Amino acid sequence: MKKAYIVGTGHSVPEKILTNKDLESMVDTSDEWIITRTGIKERHVSTPGEASSDFALEACRSAMEAAGWAPGDVDCVLVGTITPDYPCPATACILASRLGLENVPAYDFAAGCSGFLYGLIQAKAFIESGFFERILVVGVEMLTKITNWTDRNTCVLFGDGAGAAAVSSTGPGGELGGWHWGADGSLGDLLLMRAGGSRMPASEESVRQNLHTIYMEGREVFRYAVRAMRDSCLKALEKDGTPKSEVDLLISHQANTRIIDATARALELRPEQVFVNIHKYGNTSAASIPIALDEAVREGLVVPPKNIVLAAFGAGLTWAGILIKWRE
Ligand code: UT7
Repeated sequence: MKKAYIVGTGHSVPEKILTNKDLESMVDTSDEWIITRTGIKERHVSTPGEASSDFALEACRSAMEAAGWAPGDVDCVLVGTITPDYPCPATACILASRLGLENVPAYDFAAGCSGFLYGLIQAKAFIESGFFERILVVGVEMLTKITNWTDRNTCVLFGDGAGAAAVSSTGPGGELGGWHWGADGSLGDLLLMRAGGSRMPASEESVRQNLHTIYMEGREVFRYAVRAMRDSCLKALEKDGTPKSEVDLLISHQANTRIIDATARALELRPEQVFVNIHKYGNTSAASIPIALDEAVREGLVVPPKNIVLAAFGAGLTWAGILIKWRE
């Protein structure tokens, strides 16, 4: 049976940095509260005019360079995002054109913070079934464009960025192993953007009421996140037939260090087996795992053989986990 391998990674973030101290002058919050409750110290924020495809482009170029791919090598582009350049057309199409790809299928999907893992699982299915040989999987988000800067419950959390993986039918690299994914739309109201869709199209009133920004019931989402991330990891390992004692590294969605710690405890990992970069980027939604994965690769933490568990949770509600088996 065919297998799918990550053979290159890349990421890109905006230059501008917003610190917790900066936020202290914007809402009633403190550096101390943000660090102790979330682990975030600063985040990268895009400027007016900058959009998702700008950073996705750089992330893909890095991933393609690492993989040794030319534009003609790519068969398909999958983009997980809830902050596309435009509601229509898909950012994946814009991205494919900017990368110089000709006539390859390209589409977006909205799986919130689980977007990148949803993309990897789709890529695995496409490659193992022989549909495609080489796929670009992207997680990109400009969450600060849909942030309510007067809501301290959410505005301290988010950051912008993009990450990408080149996934191939030919190794060596990170083999996409056992996986688990799911969704529960009955809980969608816990984390949503109310206006701008067909239910409530943009109007003067919707803008006045700040309804084009993210609303989140943080405490409730936290409870579900802990359970769903733990279950996703354990089910992915079970499907692979790999015991948790053989996991070398956890790279989870970076939403809150307390959620990451709970997931690490479920896998019985030591602190040095858990990759954390939330202090630098905040919660970048679909981009957080590919940014962290690329940093881990470039910092030399992915020297094979390594078994790496990726775990995500986000709006939908959605969740996913996958085991990556990195081999020579
Ligand atoms: O990425 C996709 C999924 N998202 C997540 O996984 C996020 C999950 N949720 C969380 O990470 C956490 O729930 C938050 C970081 C959002 C909030 O942390 P928390 O420990 O759950 O705080 P809380 O919402 O229970 O609020 C505790 C207190 C409240 O004050 P009272 O009612 O106890 O007086 C809040 O008003 O902290 C207050 N608070 C703040 N204080 C200072 C809330 N936000 C802030 C703030 N600065 N920015």
